[in-house]
Amino acid sequence: MIITNLCFQNVENFLASDALKNGISYVEKAYQDLIHKTGKGNDFLGWLNLPEEISPSMITELNHSAERLSNLAEVIVVVGIGGSYLGARAVIEALQHPFKSLLPNEKTPQVLFAGNNMGEDYHKGLMDILDFKDYAVIVISKSGTTTEPAIAFRILKEHCEKKYGKNEAQKRIIAITDEKRGALKKLATEENYKTFVIPDDVGGRYSVLTPVGLLPIACAGFNLRKLLNGSLNMRNNLLKNNIFEKNIAMQYALMRFLLYKEGKKIELMVAYEPQLFFFIEWFKQLFGESDGKEGKGVFPAGAIFSTDLHSLGQYIQEGERHLFETVISVEKIYSHLPIPFAPNDLDGLNYLQQKSIHEINLKAEEGTRLAHIAGNVPNFRITIPEISEETLGELIYFFEFSCALSGYLLNINPFDQPGVEAYKSNMFKLLGR
Ligand code: PA5
Repeated sequence: MIITNLCFQNVENFLASDALKNGISYVEKAYQDLIHKTGKGNDFLGWLNLPEEISPSMITELNHSAERLSNLAEVIVVVGIGGSYLGARAVIEALQHPFKSLLPNEKTPQVLFAGNNMGEDYHKGLMDILDFKDYAVIVISKSGTTTEPAIAFRILKEHCEKKYGKNEAQKRIIAITDEKRGALKKLATEENYKTFVIPDDVGGRYSVLTPVGLLPIACAGFNLRKLLNGSLNMRNNLLKNNIFEKNIAMQYALMRFLLYKEGKKIELMVAYEPQLFFFIEWFKQLFGESDGKEGKGVFPAGAIFSTDLHSLGQYIQEGERHLFETVISVEKIYSHLPIPFAPNDLDGLNYLQQKSIHEINLKAEEGTRLAHIAGNVPNFRITIPEISEETLGELIYFFEFSCALSGYLLNINPFDQPGVEAYKSNMFKLLGR
């Protein structure tokens, strides 16, 4: 049984009559192509079975490595970009204490990220911290040749070897890369690093449930089995329900495709819980790199409300009518912070006394939904009972499956990213490589 719920009532009302009925056979065909591996890019469908195929012994090995690094280090630096970065960060930031680095007596290491940008201040700042913190490094690159993480890793490797000596540095570095190919594989073999493999048939942005995501998530102290169980629940549900009426991924993929056809070219993924910021970043990469090709594709955008109601809110309500919203709604939050009573009520907030912030947040969500629908913004609502390993696991698999269906509806290959090469070849030329 899945615990994620998709509400599309406020989308259906925006679709032309018969559009949905006429589209069902297309999404059901896309579904069949996906599960029978007869669609485009079908050599990159390894992610479909990951929740079932990650073995108990692999989980034990990942947990063991995470524990070993955690015992050595206060800080674990995860080096990677794109799909070799965002999945881990999405799950870790969603689950960890929002001010973890400032907590006293924190036992689990702080996971920091490098190589996802080329900010010199950022990386120099990180090295300043690593001068006095005990640390370990997880370097992730499927191709093993991506420039940004390779640069960061070269700097970190040198720093680590200077600080701890070559032998100790080797123990503090784990590489996650292709089984056979790439510069990182070669380097890891030469240096005798502990290595985990990214399966050949899983592309970067679909790799969060491989060691790419799982090792950093375990290092941050979260439960891999629960995460995978959540994904498995969603997988079983989506594979069992092979008709549109019962399959939430088919419903979401088809309706967002129909909205796109009607000129709603931008999807704004919204959460009211700021810890989901990086989950939305992960979603943006998944859909942006998968769907955005051949002059097609919904543009994936993101926002955190209320924050962005005070920046983008005006545009969403009254600007160009080319967007729809998908809201990730969280029913229960486990912190409790009621509004206190103030005897003089100078701020006029006593009418809210004893309500929790989350109760008020849910009212903001409801009020915003009504306002945006009235302003002609179609609205999907994806409800999860809480933010946990299980619910994030469900969401990950739901979005991956929906993304593949979306690509097939657009008649593109959702598993390649040829457009990413354009900037790289210019950059290499400019650098004189
Ligand atoms: O989804 C993808 O394939 C990309 O975003 C890659 O993950 C990203 O470019 C990083 O590639 P690599 O892991 O080969 O360094």
